[in-house]
Amino acid sequence: MCSQEGEGYRLLKEYANGFMVSQVLFAACELGVFELLAAAPEPLDSAAVSARLGASPRGTELLLDACVSLKLLQAGVRGGKAVYANTELASTYLVRGSPRSQRDMLMYTGRTTYVCWGHLAEAVREGRNQYLKAFGIPSEELFSAIYRSEGERLQFMRGLQDVWRLEGARVLAAFDLSPFRVICDLGGDFFTDPLPEADLYILARVLHDWTDAKCSHLLERLYQACRTGGGILVIESLLDADGRGPLTTVLYSLNMLVQTEGRERTPAQYRALLAPAGFRDVRCRRAGGIYGAVLARK
Ligand SMILES: C[S@@+](CC[C@H](N)C(=O)[O-])C[C@H]1O[C@@H](n2cnc3c(N)ncnc32)[C@H](O)[C@@H]1O
Repeated sequence: MCSQEGEGYRLLKEYANGFMVSQVLFAACELGVFELLAAAPEPLDSAAVSARLGASPRGTELLLDACVSLKLLQAGVRGGKAVYANTELASTYLVRGSPRSQRDMLMYTGRTTYVCWGHLAEAVREGRNQYLKAFGIPSEELFSAIYRSEGERLQFMRGLQDVWRLEGARVLAAFDLSPFRVICDLGGDFFTDPLPEADLYILARVLHDWTDAKCSHLLERLYQACRTGGGILVIESLLDADGRGPLTTVLYSLNMLVQTEGRERTPAQYRALLAPAGFRDVRCRRAGGIYGAVLARK
């Protein structure tokens, strides 16, 4: 009983304070802590970091120590003072320009996604995205549907690339795509623009933005454009059959609520969209990371 109560309380605190952990990460990225320490020839003390970042000494010291606690930085001692350096995690994933850097996605998540999530209860109540409350922008005035500016759109696209660099190869290896000669990776205004003829259409991280009705409309257009014997490859984060896991995908689905008009779906839900559009032989494969693949044929 006691140990169960202890575990429950520990979990509760972890959940309640989770946003603070995210904000430490976002703030350190935003301020350029990891680039500064990567470029420094030796570990820096807090005064040097605050001077070079133009940030307050008190705030900097607290942030650096929180980063140490989160294993984003490592601390040592030099001349009786604490000095800080990046951990391997930070050097690999947080420093701008590192081949596996996730910095752009983190910056987008901190500046945009996080603000929308501050209105999650309202999003659940209203069943729609929260750009109006988060940023004072009515949906119809957003640039290209969900971006506040061209700069934000480009940052999001760079962020998508960050994730794709780590996940893409594995997802594309889920099926043998060698029979498909002409492959079209769809982007832009695919609801209205003419679609090029191809053997395989890739819809990566697209359907989750849209309602079932809009997905069906797009899939019907693709079926018309697709060569007979060709196919469609849907790449998305796949929910478990009961819709209650994996946790990351369940959270992404709520993210679609606060930021778009869509949701993440189960393999059966993708089947239910693809089959009425005419696609057959629908096969789903999880790729071991965030994303899975659904291949269907015309
Ligand atoms: C989440 S991005 C995915 C991009 C790319 N397939 C990937 O996985 O990195 C969504 C795509 O939908 C397209 N799109 C079409 N209409 C859109 C709209 N109204 N708002 C946002 N994106 C839209 C964008 O051009 C973009 O290519």
